[in-house]
Amino acid sequence: MSEVIQASDVRRVVVLGAGTMGQGIAQVTAQAGYVTHLYDVDAARIGRAIESIKQATDRLVQKGKMLNEARSELIGALVPTSDLAQACRDVDLVIESAPEQMDLKVGLLREVKALAPERAILGTNTSSLSITEIGTRTAAAARTIGLHFFNPPPVMELLEVVRGLGTDEAVVAASLAIAKRIGKTPIVVNDMPGFATSRLGVVIGAEAMRMLESGVASAEDIDRAMELGYRHPMGPLKLTDLVGLDVRLMILEHLHREIGEQFRPPAILRQMVRAGRLGKKSGEGFYRWTESGPVPIAHKR
Ligand code: CAA
Repeated sequence: MSEVIQASDVRRVVVLGAGTMGQGIAQVTAQAGYVTHLYDVDAARIGRAIESIKQATDRLVQKGKMLNEARSELIGALVPTSDLAQACRDVDLVIESAPEQMDLKVGLLREVKALAPERAILGTNTSSLSITEIGTRTAAAARTIGLHFFNPPPVMELLEVVRGLGTDEAVVAASLAIAKRIGKTPIVVNDMPGFATSRLGVVIGAEAMRMLESGVASAEDIDRAMELGYRHPMGPLKLTDLVGLDVRLMILEHLHREIGEQFRPPAILRQMVRAGRLGKKSGEGFYRWTESGPVPIAHKR
C-alpha cells in the first residue's frame, strides 16, 4: 500500500449516500471544517438532505447553540453532487453510507477506488457487514475500515471504528484521530458480525417486536418499560422507528445468517417493511410520526 494519509492532512471528505445517516454524517464532517461532498445517485434525495441540514442547523442557531457564522461555514463546506468522479477527485476520506447490502457497498467502493487517490481512507458506515469482506472484494483491504455512526449522527457521541483483518494499523490510528476531530468518542472493535453495538442493540429491538406480537403490552408500554425502568433515552420500538425498519431487518437477516436463530427477524417486522411502514422516515412504523413527535397507533395481532 502506498503511504496512507495522516489525520492532520485530511481536508476533503466524500459521504456516499444522502439517506438519513449520510445526511447526518455530512453535517458532522462539515461542522468539523472538512470540505464535504455529499454524493447520491438520486439528485432529489441530495436536495432533501441539504434542506434538512439547513433546517436542523437553523434550529440550533435559534436555540442559541450555534453561531450564525458557524452555521454559514458549515453550509458552505457542503458540496452536493451526483458526479462521483468529481466527488472523489483529491478526496482524503471516504465515508460510504449506502443501504446495508454487501454487493451495493462493494460495487460503489470499487468505483470509488478507481477514482480516488491511493492514499485515501475508505470508510464504510455499515451496521453489521464484514469489513474484511468489503475490503477484500474492493481489493483495498489495508485502507478499508468500518466507521459506524449512530442515529442521529450530529447528536450521538459514539463512533465504532471496526478493524478488518487486513486493515492497516495506520488507518486505525488516523480514524481515531479523525473521530476526535469531529467530536466523537471512538471505540475500536474487531470485525465480527454486528460488531459491539448492533449485535446487542437489535436483540432488544427484536425481542420488543416479539413481545408486541404476542400481546405482552402495547408498543407505548413496552417502550415506557425501558425508558422509565432502565433509563434508555427512547424505548426499543420507537428507536426502531428512528433507525428505520428496513435497516433493522437487513441487520437481523445478516446476523441470522452469520450467528444464528436468536437473530431471526420477527414476522411483524417483515410485514411492516412489506407495507412500506419504515418508521420515522416514511411517517409510520410502530408509531405515527407527526411534526410534534411520535403518536401511538393500534397494532393488529
Ligand atoms: N444536529 C444537531 N443537534 C441536533 C440535531 C441535529 N440534526 N437534532 C437534534 N439535535 C439536538 C437538539 O438540539 C437537542 O439538544 P439539547 O438537548 O442540547 O437541547 C438534542 O439533540 C435532543 O434533541 P430533541 O430535544 O429534539 O430530542 P430528544 O431530547 O427527545 O432526544 C434523541 C432525541 C437524541 C434521538 C434521544 O431520544 C436519543 O438519544 N435516543 C436514542 C438514540 C439511539 O439510541 N440511537 C442509536 C440508534 S442505533 C444506530 O443508529 C446504529 C445503526 O447501525 C442502526
